[in-house]
Amino acid sequence: MKLFLDSANIEEIKNIKELGILNGITTNPTLLAKQLLNITSDPFKESKKVLEEICKIIDVEILAEPVSTEYKKIVEESLQLLKISPKQIVAKIPLTSEGLKAVKELKQKNFKTAFTLIFSLNQALIAAMAEVDYICPFVGRLDDIGQIGTDLIKEIMQVYKLYNVKTKVIVASVRNVEHIKKSAQYGADFVTVPYKLIYEMLSHELTTKGIQKFIDDWNKVLI
Ligand code: G3P
Repeated sequence: MKLFLDSANIEEIKNIKELGILNGITTNPTLLAKQLLNITSDPFKESKKVLEEICKIIDVEILAEPVSTEYKKIVEESLQLLKISPKQIVAKIPLTSEGLKAVKELKQKNFKTAFTLIFSLNQALIAAMAEVDYICPFVGRLDDIGQIGTDLIKEIMQVYKLYNVKTKVIVASVRNVEHIKKSAQYGADFVTVPYKLIYEMLSHELTTKGIQKFIDDWNKVLI
C-alpha cells in the first residue's frame, strides 16, 4: 500500500516531501478553502494558484476536484485544473450521473480521472464500469453514520480482485491509524492520510525511549 497526503497546505506538503515516502496528494474544495482565507478574487482561480504551487513543490500525482455539479461545467473546470500540469493533475469528481458523463468525456481526451465520495460497493462497481483510474471511498464518514468504514474497503478489494479490476483504490476520510492498518490488511492500493496522522504512524513510544537509552549509554562511555 502506498501513501498519499490528504492536504492542500504548502508547509505540510513540503515537510512530508522531505520524508521521501509520498506517492501523491489528494485535495478537495474543503482542504483548498482552508488555504484561501481572506481572498477577494474568484476562489476557483485562487485555488488553481495553490495547486500550481503544489505541482512545483513535488513531482507526484495531485488529485484536484471541480466544484460544479453539472456535467458540462464539471468538464470545463476539470480541464482548467488539468491544464495546470497535465502530467500531475488527476480530475477527482464526485460519483453522480453527471460525474459519470464528465469522466467519460475526460477519458476520451486521455486525462486521468478519479471518483470521490464513494460510500458503497455498488458505487465502486459503477466506477469500475466507467474504467476510472482511481476511486476514493470515505471510511471516516461511514464510521460517522454508525457503520464500520473499513468493511467497505474489504468488500471493494475482494470484488475488484475477483474481476481483475484495473481501477485503483485510495482510502480516504482516514481519521486514525486503525483505518490505515485495516486498509493495508485488506489490500488497498493507496491510503490518503492527514498530516498529523503520518507522524502518528511513524512514531512509537518505545522508539523514543530506545533512542534515549542509546544516547544515555553512549554518554556513560565518554565519562
Ligand atoms: O480524503 C477526504 C477527506 O479530506 C475527507 O475527510 O475527515 O472530512 O471525512 P473527512
